[in-house]
Amino acid sequence: MAHNLQITAASPDPALLDLPWDVPLEQWPSSVLAALPRGISRHIVRFVKMSGGVIAVKEIGESVAYREYELLRQLSRISVPSVEPVGVITGRQDANGERLEAVLITKHLQFSLPYRSLFSQTLRPDTATRLIDALAVLLVRLHLIGFYWGDVSLSNTLFRRDAETFAAYLVDAETGDLHPQLTDGQRNYDVDLARTNIIGELMDLAAGDFLDEDVDTIAIGDALVDRYNELWSALTDEESFDSEDRWRVAARIERLNHLGFDVGELEITTDIDGTSVQIQPKVVDAGHHSRRLLRLTGLDVQENQARRLLNDLDSYRAATDRQNDEEEFVAHDWLSGVFEPTVRAVPRDQRRKLEPAQLFHEVLDHRWFISEKQGRDVPLSEAVASYVDNVLRDRPDEMAILGLPPESADQQE
Ligand SMILES: Nc1ncnc2c1ncn2[C@@H]1O[C@H](COP(=O)(O)OP(=O)(O)O)[C@@H](O)[C@H]1O
Ligand SMILES: [Mg+2]
Repeated sequence: MAHNLQITAASPDPALLDLPWDVPLEQWPSSVLAALPRGISRHIVRFVKMSGGVIAVKEIGESVAYREYELLRQLSRISVPSVEPVGVITGRQDANGERLEAVLITKHLQFSLPYRSLFSQTLRPDTATRLIDALAVLLVRLHLIGFYWGDVSLSNTLFRRDAETFAAYLVDAETGDLHPQLTDGQRNYDVDLARTNIIGELMDLAAGDFLDEDVDTIAIGDALVDRYNELWSALTDEESFDSEDRWRVAARIERLNHLGFDVGELEITTDIDGTSVQIQPKVVDAGHHSRRLLRLTGLDVQENQARRLLNDLDSYRAATDRQNDEEEFVAHDWLSGVFEPTVRAVPRDQRRKLEPAQLFHEVLDHRWFISEKQGRDVPLSEAVASYVDNVLRDRPDEMAILGLPPESADQQE
């Protein structure tokens, strides 16, 4: 047993010590491994069961491991969507005293899907577009806080379902760098590299027959650049107008809220004679809807799931004629009278297939679908039962394994 093992972690779990650190990661026994889908990587990465959860272990050079750990810690602290670091282990030796590579440990991101898993399931044809939209949002958020990624790609991103869209999470920060602020040149370089990498990755998928023949890989790469630029300018552009048109201040804030951002600081300047006004958002924070839902109900969900749940809360409020009641009270009743019973109506063994908020979203979609088909308002309780029988039963378990055998989860290159 290696005796000079060194563990760096914010809150080390003693169970870490029980793992076979004196064995190269590639030879770890399947008894400690969790068979989960994994993306393409340069390094050896394995998912390991520990203390009832799953961690991702990556063998990587010592200094790079510390650097990536630090960056991931900073990103987690400012709540940018990324994997959460657990720690770094160095000083590994095998039974013969040979040095083994250091490891970086992160928490496995539950319900996350590498893009290859998304493509190998049969999904709607616009999946690629929705993944690109999610990646554009992540890239804008990273750039807003001064994070230069340096290797943006689909493989370095994880996706989680977020209502009808996806939310993207950064998984590989190895090449990243945190600056006080990025120059336009740095941003454009990151976006350009993203475009090149994505086109390459999609072409690979096409070569392996995972991609529909009509998908235009170049157009998808270009779409990322367009989406990114659109969102960046909506969030940061200066806007100038006549001082009589002051409603435009509120309109800009509303537009940002609609995009899912709160305005932390808005700079307003006027010219000397006061006839024109310039506004420019200086601090914007993502998560407008998820923060509002959290405040009202305590539910901590992703942005578009929150948007959907808030819409349902609004219709509940209208349907129960409680427009004049305190929002908090109505939200509490909606939570205990609508949301929770719906999620609980899903049989326990089916429930872990999707996150609760995602289940609720899909039940709402399903209700809309069958109501239209049957030409009547199907009640939620009936819709859940039909959803479970007709949709959910056939879905793979996305919390765990996606129904993939361990070999196909192994896509090391
Ligand atoms: N914490 C994690 N949760 C889920 N998947 C992970 C996690 N860490 C790594 N992975 C998976 O492993 C793959 C490789 O990890 P990555 O950090 O990109 O390694 P490399 O530096 O070798 O490219 C990722 O694409 C992802 O699919
Ligand atoms: Mg990577």
